[in-house]
Amino acid sequence: MTVMDRSTAPDAGDPDFLPTPPDLYGRRERDRVLRGLGIAGRYWFPAWQRLIHPGEPQEVDRTLTVRIVDRRVVARDENVIELTFGPVGDEPLPRWYAGAHLDLLLPSGRMREYSLCGDPTVQDTYRIAVRRIPDGGGGSLEVHDALKVGDTIRVKGPRNAFPLSLPGFGSPATRMRFVAGGIGITPILPMLATAERLELPWSMIYVGRSRESLPFLDELRPYGSKITIRTDDEHGLPTPADLLGDEDSGSPSAEPSTVYTCGPPMMLENLRQALIGRPDVELHYERFSAPPVVGGRPFTITLAKSGVRVPVAADEPALEAIRRELPGVPYSCRQGFCGTCKIKVLDGKVEHRDTILSDAERDAGSMLICVSRCVDDELTLDL
Ligand code: FES
Repeated sequence: MTVMDRSTAPDAGDPDFLPTPPDLYGRRERDRVLRGLGIAGRYWFPAWQRLIHPGEPQEVDRTLTVRIVDRRVVARDENVIELTFGPVGDEPLPRWYAGAHLDLLLPSGRMREYSLCGDPTVQDTYRIAVRRIPDGGGGSLEVHDALKVGDTIRVKGPRNAFPLSLPGFGSPATRMRFVAGGIGITPILPMLATAERLELPWSMIYVGRSRESLPFLDELRPYGSKITIRTDDEHGLPTPADLLGDEDSGSPSAEPSTVYTCGPPMMLENLRQALIGRPDVELHYERFSAPPVVGGRPFTITLAKSGVRVPVAADEPALEAIRRELPGVPYSCRQGFCGTCKIKVLDGKVEHRDTILSDAERDAGSMLICVSRCVDDELTLDL
């Protein structure tokens, strides 16, 4: 084998001569036109890939780093803390509207969603509140135990899955009723501020186990009689009529109204049932836990990397069944809208129950395991 020293300039008559391609004018230097085309191609190629695969949405990076500038206990039982975030550097924080939430990317790698609960007109800080849940998935414990004033944390958003449509501003309703259960007050707080600023007619009921467990009671005091506080230890469990207040005439009224609610699953379900057949009342709700499985049937998931077979009960989300084997499997909203639990399906037919995957993503074999299920009896997942 001949090893050639390219630092010398071999004769063109030499049979081992490997020339640098001459340029358009016979020069051995690279031609400027070719060099320009090469550079243009480097940038054009990725753009062209997007054009020829239009069905595959490109992820928009909405991640930013914020600093924790304040931390405060906001319930008398000391189980709810409020965290206030400020910008890092000169970049202003993106704007948000009532009902929006942030995804916190926690140091452990967990992602958890928390409603923004400050005033949307305050643009230099974000505020969230988190109840400590000892038997949850560990996210709230990490927020309580690991996040301190001065720390920075990455967040995604804000995004709004619970937007407020206001009477006179896109909604035919003439009055608003807010129903908050415990930590479900968080998305409702900015809604109250917005309704108050626009001088809209509104009322609210705030329910929970006890006064000690209810966050932000001091902050609500200035709203006076517009807010009713009702606790289980003093009054027993509230009925739908208690929750709906004036909106509960029992039959459609001439004055349409709108109900915004966030709280425990049973409270939301009771309200939903009570408002069936009431076209005069718009119901908007946000859950902070997984919805019940409706119309499910049992099936089995095979975890491809270990071969372990996981039975999923008819009334059980696939995510919960998988977490028995793989406790660290990523998830956040548990309601099929954040995309954190997206997994590739290697075999089997999926019954998609989410609201965000595109047809292209479904065709490519993606599944959101927090809500979606199996059409037949068996699924194999890339886990
Ligand atoms: S956890 Fe949010 S979509 Fe599944």
